[in-house]
Amino acid sequence: MRRMLLTGIGELVTNDPAPGRAGGPLGIVRDAAVLVEDGRVAWVGPAAHASEQLPGAVDAADRRDGEEHRASRDASVEVVDAGGRAVLPGFVDSHTHLVFGGDRADEFAARMAGRPYEAGGIRSTVAATRAASDDVLRARLAGFVAELHAQGTTTFEVKSGYGLDVATEARLVRLAAEVTEEVTFLGAHVVPAEFREPDGPGADAYVDLVVGEMLDACAPSSRWVDAFCERGAFTPAQSRRVLEAGRQAGLGVRVHGNQLGPGEGVALAVELGAASVDHCTFLDDADVALLAGSDTVATLLPGVEFSTRQPYPDARRLIDAGVTVAIASDCNPGSSFTSSMPFCIAVAVRDMRMTPAEAVWAATAGGARALRREDVGALRPGMRADLVELAAPGHVHLAYRPGVPLVRRVWREGVLVGDPVLAGDPV
Ligand code: NIG
Ligand code: FE
Repeated sequence: MRRMLLTGIGELVTNDPAPGRAGGPLGIVRDAAVLVEDGRVAWVGPAAHASEQLPGAVDAADRRDGEEHRASRDASVEVVDAGGRAVLPGFVDSHTHLVFGGDRADEFAARMAGRPYEAGGIRSTVAATRAASDDVLRARLAGFVAELHAQGTTTFEVKSGYGLDVATEARLVRLAAEVTEEVTFLGAHVVPAEFREPDGPGADAYVDLVVGEMLDACAPSSRWVDAFCERGAFTPAQSRRVLEAGRQAGLGVRVHGNQLGPGEGVALAVELGAASVDHCTFLDDADVALLAGSDTVATLLPGVEFSTRQPYPDARRLIDAGVTVAIASDCNPGSSFTSSMPFCIAVAVRDMRMTPAEAVWAATAGGARALRREDVGALRPGMRADLVELAAPGHVHLAYRPGVPLVRRVWREGVLVGDPVLAGDPV
């Protein structure tokens, strides 16, 4: 059996609010340890009690000297000292669009010079993605995965949606499935240029393709179906067709809704029992009430409002109404080209009126809820041992020290990942 004891943790966020723990939903244990066995959490508790879990394996003097990766007396247990730092569950990024060609830095610069964000920019990424080979897309994806790991993300969703023809969408979901089990078919991202009226067969004909041949080709590699229900993308009726067809094909439902203006995306998502409705920037009271009475998570994407200069959604209003809120990066070349959950946490705290504790929960347990995952997002016996050690004494520092690379070490399934030298610079 592969065993690791991570001890000397100054503040452990478990997201398991057992009796005696601090921080409300964060379930904080101070001076804590985590025992990992074969990639799963086997035990969580005060470091002083760790030796009871592993008789003979941990010696108090060993822990005090601060040396890391010290071999314990029991050679079958690796003892790792966190030196009083904070440890959190790995971040769960429930919304990304990471398979694409090219980038849109010029569009971003133009926007910062005053042009508004328009969903139509997606079509330029479609052209670059169709032209990119599998090898190029795969190499870029590998770069993004390294980036995610280095920033503490250990579970992530990836959407298609920059292919918009049967062959390319099928390619994108297959490539995404090589790096994550959380693959979303987003053929209904926008209507591609060749279908646009007056020249083309039109939006409804494109939806026919999405719910037919494209869904057949993509469903085997996908877990989820998504639709961009928004003016300029798909109407509520068109979105409903796509989501119902996906559900019929065995996929779970998620929705892009209420991003660019008020609309019916949230109501549709709740009605269809979607796991999550994402963006939620423009909500009325009825939308908030619908979400509060449902199992649908409201996933907020702070990078989008940051990068588009739109008004931020009001997380406080949602949380106070009892809505489950997640935070995700929405990493994509148009509206939010960040893969950093720590950045998203900092922005959510500063500009969406979340407390640091709420934002950390939303980026871990909230993301897991948005993906309907029971095995990640918290540190309880039996869960996957996805751990983030911060170069900081507590979770508050993620918002308190924005822009500082606070992620020190990352374990996914009990194995160290996320060497910062691998991060960034996708080809
Ligand atoms: O989630 N809203 C639609 N899709 C993306 C934007 C994609 C793009 O601009 O390329 C989003 O923001
Ligand atoms: Fe998105």
